[in-house]
Amino acid sequence: MYSIINKTKESSSKIDLVVLAENQSNWSSLGLSPSELDYLISELNTEQSSIHINQYSRRLYIEIISSQTSKSLACEKVRERGAILAKLLNLAKIEKVGIESLHSTDFSLVLAEGIALANYQFLKYFKDSASKKNSLKEILVRSEYSKIDQLNAVISGTLHARDLVNEPLSYLNAMKFSEEMSRLGDESGFDVETLYKNQIEDLKMGGLLAVNKGAVEPPTFNILTHHPKNAANEDPIVLVGKGIVYDTGGLSLKPTANSMDIMKCDMGGGASVVGILYALAKAKVPIYVVGLIPATENRPGGNAYAPGDVIHMMDNTSVEVLNTDAEGRLVLADALCYAKKYKPELVIDFATLTGAAVRAIGKYGIVAMGNTSKSVQDDLIESGENVYERLAIMPFWDEYADLLKSDIADMTNLGPAEAGQITAGKFLEHFTDYPWLHFDIAGPAFLSNDDHYRLKGGTGSGVRIIFDYLMRKTL
Ligand code: BES
Ligand code: ZN
Ligand code: ZN
Repeated sequence: MYSIINKTKESSSKIDLVVLAENQSNWSSLGLSPSELDYLISELNTEQSSIHINQYSRRLYIEIISSQTSKSLACEKVRERGAILAKLLNLAKIEKVGIESLHSTDFSLVLAEGIALANYQFLKYFKDSASKKNSLKEILVRSEYSKIDQLNAVISGTLHARDLVNEPLSYLNAMKFSEEMSRLGDESGFDVETLYKNQIEDLKMGGLLAVNKGAVEPPTFNILTHHPKNAANEDPIVLVGKGIVYDTGGLSLKPTANSMDIMKCDMGGGASVVGILYALAKAKVPIYVVGLIPATENRPGGNAYAPGDVIHMMDNTSVEVLNTDAEGRLVLADALCYAKKYKPELVIDFATLTGAAVRAIGKYGIVAMGNTSKSVQDDLIESGENVYERLAIMPFWDEYADLLKSDIADMTNLGPAEAGQITAGKFLEHFTDYPWLHFDIAGPAFLSNDDHYRLKGGTGSGVRIIFDYLMRKTL
């Protein structure tokens, strides 16, 4: 549904075109008239980097791509250019655009990625959505089919994750979230098993059940599986996603004003896991991956769990709940316990977990920590640079765990004011016995303004970095 990138056919020579070039490119292949060429040269002389020529039969958007300090930044600048182009192309009511490269480095696919991600819209709730719809439907590039398919897959996964995050609680309660997972699983090819409240009780998932106590709707626990026959790995990579479909804070109610306004985004980690599974299944990536998503709303209902309560997690660890707004770690803990049965090669969890992560680095990256080998971390850092979903690795010293000591239980769910993103990670670590990383995506998962091709609202943060990492693992 979102795949808009196709391979250029030789017959499509008269379509509107974006040309990626350098100042000193050879312009002869563009078939410019002498006056058009004069115009282009004069614009280049005034250091213009976007030069538009309307040839009547087609429009040319000539984009001068200058060198950057790193490949990562060069690609990002091209994606950002894609976001500007998406606006211009839609303004000109263009439906199909080609990309040609005269540049010594071929950035065609990177540009297509930026355009496609920036062309996203969430129009479902507008009465006149048809009239608001972008014109752009197809981007033609000269590249291999396999690369185009992979790019379409990861873009679709990202945009489906955005859709899920943008859905409000009035539509997306835990049950509906599970139904959407099944629909996307059917569409792309991954399996979904949903456990309902009685099964969650049988498993003694005390964290998920405690958070759900004040909720109106029942919880779900979702198991997503992509297990192709030709998988390279025997033990799966498990991806855990926080699925709080709405976070009021519970009885430790969020101090209203604005802090609750965006809390439909609190299933952003779960949405990213769904998006990753979708992309892997679509692209038929030969790797065994399991997604685990505990889902519920966090509300101060009549039976809500209360500050001071002691609850028992799936592995029987007792937790003194000192703040019901620190609910994400409770539902994730049960999922991390559940993950043990897979004897996983690696577990990564994704969560809009702490305001502290936002305060630390803002929207510019993912706050990461954990206990994996340096080589796994380095590979993930590299993937983060490749797709510009960068990782900020936190210190993860033992002393941080001491900050979660409780007088009456094995641990509390609340650390002191400092290093809140790290104590949250230390809480999670207690429930792991395998190589594990925690990605706190509270900063980048949901934006209050457009940031180039990451549009206002849900961003699908986490999908592109993990797809890149897993793709490179299969090479
Ligand atoms: N869902 C929030 C974290 C959050 C903040 C997500 C901003 C997205 C944007 C989380 O459940 C939460 O409330 N965390 C508390 C934890 C605290 C009580 C220890 C926080 O960070 O304030
Ligand atoms: Zn909370
Ligand atoms: Zn939360």
